[in-house]
Amino acid sequence: MGDTLKVAVVGTGGWAEQHARIFSRRADTELVGVLGRDEGRTRARAERYGSRGFTDLDALLATDPDLVTVCLPNERHFEPTLALLQTGIPLLVEKPLVFELDEADRLLAEAEERDTFFAINFNHRYAEPVVRAKAALDAGELGAPVFATWRFGGEANLGESPHANLIETQCHGFDMLEHLFGPITSVAASMTKKTYGAWSTIAIALEFANDAVGTMLGSYDSSYAYEDSQRVELNGTLGRAVIHDTVRSLTLETAGDEVARVWRAGYFNDEARTFEYTFDRHVDAVLTALRAGDPPPVPARAGRRALALAMAVIESHETVRRVETFGV
Ligand SMILES: NC(=O)c1ccc[n+]([C@@H]2O[C@H](COP(=O)([O-])OP(=O)(O)OC[C@H]3O[C@@H](n4cnc5c(N)ncnc54)[C@H](O)[C@@H]3O)[C@@H](O)[C@H]2O)c1
Repeated sequence: MGDTLKVAVVGTGGWAEQHARIFSRRADTELVGVLGRDEGRTRARAERYGSRGFTDLDALLATDPDLVTVCLPNERHFEPTLALLQTGIPLLVEKPLVFELDEADRLLAEAEERDTFFAINFNHRYAEPVVRAKAALDAGELGAPVFATWRFGGEANLGESPHANLIETQCHGFDMLEHLFGPITSVAASMTKKTYGAWSTIAIALEFANDAVGTMLGSYDSSYAYEDSQRVELNGTLGRAVIHDTVRSLTLETAGDEVARVWRAGYFNDEARTFEYTFDRHVDAVLTALRAGDPPPVPARAGRRALALAMAVIESHETVRRVETFGV
């Protein structure tokens, strides 16, 4: 691995443009190639970021990348990721890991066998309000955790799975709540498919290992135009933290005190106010770990855990009972 890391991006869709942007603009990486299926579209994407387009995986790999990132449609992650893991090249993949636990296990086993660096992009962890809320929690400013709530909802991202919302969008919620509050030990779920036939809105009751409880409301029947499309509340015995729209603001309050402290990005601080740049921050951490020979800051196993929690939610709904999730 030289001073400049060679990175290749698999995918040419909307979010894959963020992958191309980041690795083409960093001073310490070179975007050596972009892989797509359509030659013209792939070339256009690659040229916009000063790189080369490929429609053949072996040709892309001939550029000898130090890291490959994978950004394909939600339900098309398994096979390309497996093929890449079999080459032993370090990988950073998009969420969700996959839609089936046996596929997740297969991918993790492949990575383990070769001791491959295998990261997943749970970039919400790197949003400034989340970083600050975690620091307040870890410093004991909120006291002992008592309850957490997560609400995330907007327009539908139609998928093939009837549980697209739960698996591909609310995975960020499972990851975020465990990142902030620790392991979830059980789930009890209600869901509706009244709008278009898929389970588009779900309500989940949670229990945590630290004896706190929580709720998640995840919806594809709402709008990202609404304020607080995403809202996370962390309530402790001494105070609470409320994260608004991931990057928009953080409110910290002390119980009994009518004056709150609010973080908002300052006038020139576009970096912290911009959702896309949570991914840039995560990439900083990924590359630092990769160069140091350390494990990824957010290992692909976190994607398997989010999927296992989603599966428990489905089981809870189907069996009309609470399902234990400790260590699943
Ligand atoms: N981490 C985040 O904050 C975040 C944000 C948005 C999207 N995402 C994730 O990024 C991924 C891509 O999302 P998107 O919105 O860009 O999707 P998209 O549908 O816009 O793009 C997918 C692209 O992949 C192409 N494609 C399909 N099959 C392919 C194959 N086998 N080989 C190569 N290309 C193929 C499609 O033609 C399309 O251009 C999803 O997993 C999504 O969940 C993550």
